Amino acid sequence: MSATPPVGHGLGAPNAAVGATPASRGVGPPLWLLLELTYRCPLHCVYCYNPTNFAHTGPELPTADWIRVLREARALGAVQLGLSGGEPLVREDLEPLVTEAHALGFYINLITSGVGMSEARMRALKAAGLDHIQLSFQDSTRELNDFLSSTRTFELKSRVAALIRQHGYPMVLNVVLHRLNIDHVGEILELAEAMGAEYVELANTQYYGWAWLNREHLLPSRAQLERAEGVTQRFRERLGNRMQIYFVVPDYFETRPKACMSGLGSVFLAVAPDGTAMPCHAARMLPGLDLPNVRDSDIRTIWYDSPAFNRFRGEAWMKEPCRSCPERGRDFGGCRCQAYLLTGDPDNADPVCDLSPHHALVTAAVARAEQAGSAAPAAARERPLVFRDHRVSIAVITGDPARGGAPARRA
Ligand code: SF4
Ligand code: FES
Repeated sequence: MSATPPVGHGLGAPNAAVGATPASRGVGPPLWLLLELTYRCPLHCVYCYNPTNFAHTGPELPTADWIRVLREARALGAVQLGLSGGEPLVREDLEPLVTEAHALGFYINLITSGVGMSEARMRALKAAGLDHIQLSFQDSTRELNDFLSSTRTFELKSRVAALIRQHGYPMVLNVVLHRLNIDHVGEILELAEAMGAEYVELANTQYYGWAWLNREHLLPSRAQLERAEGVTQRFRERLGNRMQIYFVVPDYFETRPKACMSGLGSVFLAVAPDGTAMPCHAARMLPGLDLPNVRDSDIRTIWYDSPAFNRFRGEAWMKEPCRSCPERGRDFGGCRCQAYLLTGDPDNADPVCDLSPHHALVTAAVARAEQAGSAAPAAARERPLVFRDHRVSIAVITGDPARGGAPARRA
């Protein structure tokens, strides 16, 4: 699964108000629809953005409900569809869902680890109208790929990459970067080149979900980051247009936050396996956000009228320094989930911003990564890597630290 949020345009009207008509407040449609079809996944990635308490989630939506969501979202103007999870290939109804989405006119992207893909399924998905496949790798080496996912999937992924090409899809690879694999960027790009990749996304880990639990293990040092950027740049110069390489910088090393989701409630709508509708894929963690469910409400009502989707529209929710900051129309105060995880208050400025009074929380985490040099940081030595796993998720829910459970928030 990719850890990278989608991007889009910003809010049409910065002062959206709950209860106003959509036209009067200028809220555009949810152009980007992400359906997290399932939290089931054969992999156990240490940086997965799925909620750590996913074991608590209710039953997955049946096919008919997903189809209704597709129809309602398309009628509202959604055009870009991501099918994700967990691993979306574990859903046996993936092909009929793609058929429906294609008939409705969506551009459909399957975000997959490749586990569960076969020649027959590839043919069926192609016939159903799937437009695009994004395949994730954990590393260029079998050892680290298999360690980080806690599976033996390296060869399987290579076979799926070949299938993707044989069926005429652009070869799009996604590799989440972190302290444990970032020094392999050259080898990762060589692997991508050997596979005939046309697009490679080197997405530095975003610290939500399981990645948040493992942050002390995963945050790279600045020297690692700079080396990786240098290697990437040399590849770009050598390969020119043959391979597009996107290097998503970890925002902990920046002084301004990312415009996360282009502002919540602006263009992005995610639906979790149990039907919970979210203005960002990590929003389940935000306190006091009464997230609607597609079982109870239609997408139009959810998007335009639900308190949860209106909560962070406009600027009225902002606190200082964002409220009077001249840059607030550019980054919308950064990421609400990151503000909550680091400061305990989702209305605060994203502490990545060096104007935030909480910026030291970010610089302290970076400093710990720096001090460790090439060794594991001290905090990481005290607490082993936590792999995404159903039993560990139960331990998270019950707060059992001996089995990987930890509080949702810590600095
Ligand atoms: Fe963005 Fe807020 Fe920082 Fe201004 S103070 S740059 S709006 S995060
Ligand atoms: Fe940035 Fe949720 S991940 S707002």
